[in-house]
Amino acid sequence: MEATPLSLSAGLDRLFYRSADEFFPAHAGLSLTYDDASLATLYSEILPREADFATQLAPGLFLQLPVVSADMDTVTESRMAIALALNGGLGLIHYNMPRRQQLSEVSRVKNHVHGLIREPIKVSPEQLIGDVLAMIEDKKFSFSTFPVVDQSGVLLGLLPGQCVRPRFAARAVTEAMIPRTEVLTIREGELGDDPIARADRFFTEHIGIHKLLVVDADDRLRGLFTLSDMERITQERSLRTKPSRDGKFRLVCGAAVSAPRDASGMPDLPALLDHVGALVERSVDAVAVSTAHGHTLGVGDAVRAIRGAFPALPIIAGNVTSASGVEFLASCGANTVKVGQGPGSICTTRVVAGVGIPQLTALYVCSKAAAHCGVTILADGGITKSGDIVKALTLADAVICGSLLAGCPEAPGQIMEINGKFYKQYRGMGSHAAMKAGSAARYGHAKDSAQKSAAEGVEALKEVSASADTVLAQLAGGLQSGMGYLGAPTLADLRKNARYTRITAAGMRESAPHDIIEVKTGNA
Ligand code: XMP
Repeated sequence: MEATPLSLSAGLDRLFYRSADEFFPAHAGLSLTYDDASLATLYSEILPREADFATQLAPGLFLQLPVVSADMDTVTESRMAIALALNGGLGLIHYNMPRRQQLSEVSRVKNHVHGLIREPIKVSPEQLIGDVLAMIEDKKFSFSTFPVVDQSGVLLGLLPGQCVRPRFAARAVTEAMIPRTEVLTIREGELGDDPIARADRFFTEHIGIHKLLVVDADDRLRGLFTLSDMERITQERSLRTKPSRDGKFRLVCGAAVSAPRDASGMPDLPALLDHVGALVERSVDAVAVSTAHGHTLGVGDAVRAIRGAFPALPIIAGNVTSASGVEFLASCGANTVKVGQGPGSICTTRVVAGVGIPQLTALYVCSKAAAHCGVTILADGGITKSGDIVKALTLADAVICGSLLAGCPEAPGQIMEINGKFYKQYRGMGSHAAMKAGSAARYGHAKDSAQKSAAEGVEALKEVSASADTVLAQLAGGLQSGMGYLGAPTLADLRKNARYTRITAAGMRESAPHDIIEVKTGNA
């Protein structure tokens, strides 16, 4: 039991460490961001690992981890969205690509079966074992067992690794393969709701078998599970946050859309609805009407049109930083409002346009309006460390991360080496290059004049980081620590408990490692 607090102590704490409704109005007219404030610790009865950060963004849209990957062309395509959903978050597929391609990116996420290798390396019966050996050498494969298929993909057998040896180089695959009748397979439809558990059971039941081939009704090869993958995944499962799934056990996926214009510059709502309809057909879980200025007629029209045509579809819209902006988008039918103008690591909106609000104050103002209107908010941009996430979630329902994820192998783009270090490209969607590739409308410009418009973002590099799994696990761990310090078993408790204090530049310097020679950073 907590010792009965002395009224003196309680009074002192209340005086110096204030609730959001005392702290922010006391700073009215002075806008603050993450590094301007710190959170006070509170009496706690929970261990960090017991903190549960599940969040609901819209009816039917639940996340186990309140992290969304930014809809940027150097952050989120299907690989990143799959990683986010597997870790309990949500990926928003960007729209700087042909619409058809965005649809297939969404389908890739929705059809992803974790652990199922969709395009296994196959061999044909007439190939020589010498050819297979050359292929292994050339591609540096670490495995040597291959399904054997005919030209239409029908399974003919399995070439076992123990036959793939130089002494058999001149023999044909067909002579060495285990014939189809002896290869154990499973039909795609029999995988059920939990394919990993099904495959895992198969390997337990069939001692000595290390590969499970998946076939369709016509016996065409559809994929492959391996025993080693299953063992790794089942081990990881017990450690990490549960994946975000829809009602049919598929991973959740969001997609960004712009408010498009026709040749005369008028909003092209039919084209927008047509595309959203195609996304809905592919079972997208949310669409995000993503623009730099969401409190506008055009964005309002787009949100209203989508809401009218798809009454049950979760709609994310933004960006805004004012209470009236939140109220406007909520009244148009948005469920979730993106908050952030100019905080992003690659943003130059505040420099170029002189516009934008430091993020913590923007979140407070918007959170008040959101509570009033019954919508949720996403803290979009400016998150540089897990502590920022804890601060953001004292006011928002989830955060959007760009920069923190852009260096992961799952982000689109090639890795480049510069002076022995490895980097990936990261660029603002308002940079000239990104606007030219399709995002000009997001900043109110026409694609063909993007080069002449004022860019509101820069092109940059991010050092290659650990995998999205590792980065997200670190962020989740930091969030749990913060919740533990605030005695908050849930995000609702975090919001209720948060007590803020303003810090100075000296306080900020004290907050990070200082007066030492750092030999190892806190990051993996
Ligand atoms: P972080 O800080 O996570 O921010 O890298 C990602 C968010 O930044 C926004 N964004 C931009 N804002 N000009 C801007 O003013 C840009 O070119 C730009 N590109 C992205 C966006 O909200 C994203 O989620």
